[in-house]
Amino acid sequence: MAIVEGVGARHAALKMLDSVLRQGRTLDAAAQDSRGLAPADQGLAIAIAGEALRRLPDLDALIDSATQRPLPDDSKARMVLRLALAQKIGLGTPDHALVATALPLIDGGPRRLVHGVLGTLLRKGMPALEAPRLPDPVEQRWTKAWGEEVVLAARRQIAQRPPLDLSFADDSAAQSYATEHGGVSLAPRHVRLKETAAVPGLAGFGDGGWWVQDLAASLPARLIPAEAAEVLDLCAAPGGKTMQLAAAGHRVTAVDASKNRLARIRENLQRTKLSANVVPVDALTWAPGRSFEGILLDAPCSATGTFRRHPEVIYRARPKVIAGSAELQAKLLNRAANWLNPGGALVYSVCSLEYDEGEAIVTAFLSDHPDFRLDRPTDLPAFVVPDAAGRIRILPGLLDDQGGLDGFFAARLVRLPD
Ligand SMILES: C[S@@+](CC[C@H](N)C(=O)[O-])C[C@H]1O[C@@H](n2cnc3c(N)ncnc32)[C@H](O)[C@@H]1O
Repeated sequence: MAIVEGVGARHAALKMLDSVLRQGRTLDAAAQDSRGLAPADQGLAIAIAGEALRRLPDLDALIDSATQRPLPDDSKARMVLRLALAQKIGLGTPDHALVATALPLIDGGPRRLVHGVLGTLLRKGMPALEAPRLPDPVEQRWTKAWGEEVVLAARRQIAQRPPLDLSFADDSAAQSYATEHGGVSLAPRHVRLKETAAVPGLAGFGDGGWWVQDLAASLPARLIPAEAAEVLDLCAAPGGKTMQLAAAGHRVTAVDASKNRLARIRENLQRTKLSANVVPVDALTWAPGRSFEGILLDAPCSATGTFRRHPEVIYRARPKVIAGSAELQAKLLNRAANWLNPGGALVYSVCSLEYDEGEAIVTAFLSDHPDFRLDRPTDLPAFVVPDAAGRIRILPGLLDDQGGLDGFFAARLVRLPD
């Protein structure tokens, strides 16, 4: 049989989708398995699997509308159909290329069935799916926590590519960069670019005056008081917040347990010519042997707030995973509290849209720590409005007309003076 061009990339996409959905891996981790492919094919495979993950419930409904009996959820036929439809809707791949690259993936399987379903759906015409549904458990959880409007905004966001945000060490450099490169600055030391070219190719990359960081992710470090000289950045890699803290003039101790991710901090600090004391340890067993005026705990979490760039997070964040994360977050926060000076500020943050990883963690912490109180921020960009208790919750829908933000939670906890 002749080898059809482009099948290699589709085959890799199939393995990626399968490995994300069945093994709960990240798309980045799953993509490592296809390192042997040419970079363009690997990029295409990631794009195809990503497009499928952005629209899975609606793609499944389309597939079910064209079969007499529903195909099993993890069957190869369903996976191949998901990928083919995702290419049509998300990437505009021509019909003949879709069919020609889909069928060879069904070796020994129901090729006629897949061919028939594809033919039926392509003849009918595909919906644009500009606001695709999220998986039911996610929609139910987020509706309960944040309301229907937020879920509708999340549906709109998941179909789009987010803009690229840069954080700058220096605000005047940010403002000049925005003017010179057609960006917009939505906060001090921030520039948003519409063009998302490969990052190392962007102007000024080699100079190290900026780094990539979603605007929402830049908020927690902005909560560390300027006067805190010694700051502990706990769970610091790959170092976006470490660089913010170092650029703001704090002396930073940056702790992380992951050797690979710590290497990224070191590279980032080197490129930006910023400095921090990088400590490779597990914060659950390590103790600093001293205390700090400021601590930032950007805890490991389900990362559901990053679904615009990593659509697989909403499939990985099962209730058990969220509960496990919450347990770890509470442990890390309780430990960090011991290392804060009286009068100091402990900022807790997660890039999660889960109440149980944000508000619930801080509520439980405060009830166990009468020597701490929530400190309502007044020093953030005007679009950030703390909730009634003084916590920051960034939800889908905020700054929608400017390209939106990642979902995030942050709270500043102040230790009462002795
Ligand atoms: C959300 S990421 C941090 C992102 C980082 N603050 C930034 O702005 O670039 C969470 C980090 O926690 C680290 N981590 C998880 N468990 C840890 C532990 N027990 N001790 C130290 N670091 C841990 C992970 O390796 C990961 O790098």
